[in-house]
Amino acid sequence: MSIPDLPKNTTLESRSVLITGSNVGLGYSAALLSLQLGASPVYLAVRTLPKGDKAREALLADPVVKEKNPNAVVKVYQLDMSTWDGVTSFASKFIADRKAAGESLDVAMLNAGIMNTAYEVAPTGNEAVIQVNHLSTALLSLLLLPLLESSTIPEHTARLMIVSSGAHAEVKSLKACPPDDYNYLASLNDKKTFTATRDRYGLSKLLIIFFLRELSTRVSSDKVIINNVCPGLIRTEINRGMPSYDRPALEARYAASANPVEKGAACYVHAVAAVGKESHGLWYRRMELTPYADIVTNGEGEKLQPRIWNETMEALDKVVPGIGSDI
Ligand SMILES: NC(=O)c1ccc[n+]([C@@H]2O[C@H](COP(=O)([O-])OP(=O)(O)OC[C@H]3O[C@@H](n4cnc5c(N)ncnc54)[C@H](OP(=O)(O)O)[C@@H]3O)[C@@H](O)[C@H]2O)c1
Repeated sequence: MSIPDLPKNTTLESRSVLITGSNVGLGYSAALLSLQLGASPVYLAVRTLPKGDKAREALLADPVVKEKNPNAVVKVYQLDMSTWDGVTSFASKFIADRKAAGESLDVAMLNAGIMNTAYEVAPTGNEAVIQVNHLSTALLSLLLLPLLESSTIPEHTARLMIVSSGAHAEVKSLKACPPDDYNYLASLNDKKTFTATRDRYGLSKLLIIFFLRELSTRVSSDKVIINNVCPGLIRTEINRGMPSYDRPALEARYAASANPVEKGAACYVHAVAAVGKESHGLWYRRMELTPYADIVTNGEGEKLQPRIWNETMEALDKVVPGIGSDI
């Protein structure tokens, strides 16, 4: 399925943009396109600083960026989303730097994500995919929210865009709301619950969708416009851990239906620059407003959403006491 072109007048002129996981893949391409469309400063939040520095050099050497955005500023920050401290240290430094310089943050694209082929425990003690794609992404959203809110001005509303995935619709392991006396998020740390790569990945995206939907009911779109995006299949490094015997099938899928990474990046820009308040709480797949999977919107979803929100907030409150208490 192809991805349309961005509307001709799409611009990020003078917007400041933060992109997590922006040294490679979709995050890097989103940084490049943002710069080409006039964004500055662009903040690259990356796990490994030298990789971020290399990306920064490449971005500033891009001929279109040089021509269209010659004074562009690109700054690199370290962000490791597998640890709580990696997220809180990043947010503290990033926010303190903006405050010290009197700078705002117009757009946050939370893109960093993983798809593990085997069960792995993050340094937090949580299963790694749930940690990075859901818990740390939720924590970072909440930590950035006050800065985003204070950056909204009459001319434009700040944006929080989270990269989800159509894989949320394929989850087989969560069909109904678990019993009340059961901590569902904690249960996912049991190795037995990691049944398949794609299921765990999709589940992590389903959880962050529940979180985002609940967050968007609590934060007015006049303050921050919150939405989520799936670019569809894009050839990136996301499958780096895949065993060689699965590669031919993946290559066949790429050949049949993958879009170029630049098109995927355009989906990100579309969500933060081409759509407005009408997108609050919603999901755009390949730029198209798409209904969530049934599990999100049916009766079970209605029970699951506040449940996932409460369990997530409980987990995050242990890391940053009082976080979200005013949301
Ligand atoms: N590719 C697709 O077909 C597709 C489809 C739908 C959604 N998505 C989503 O798009 C997003 C970007 O994925 P991609 O395809 O561009 O994959 P990618 O090439 O593997 O890029 C992932 C990025 O996330 C970073 N990252 C991973 N773990 C991290 C951690 N613990 N802390 C901080 N950063 C971390 C990676 O950093 P390192 O380079 O240091 O590992 C990298 O910069 C993900 O959220 C993915 O789920 C992808």
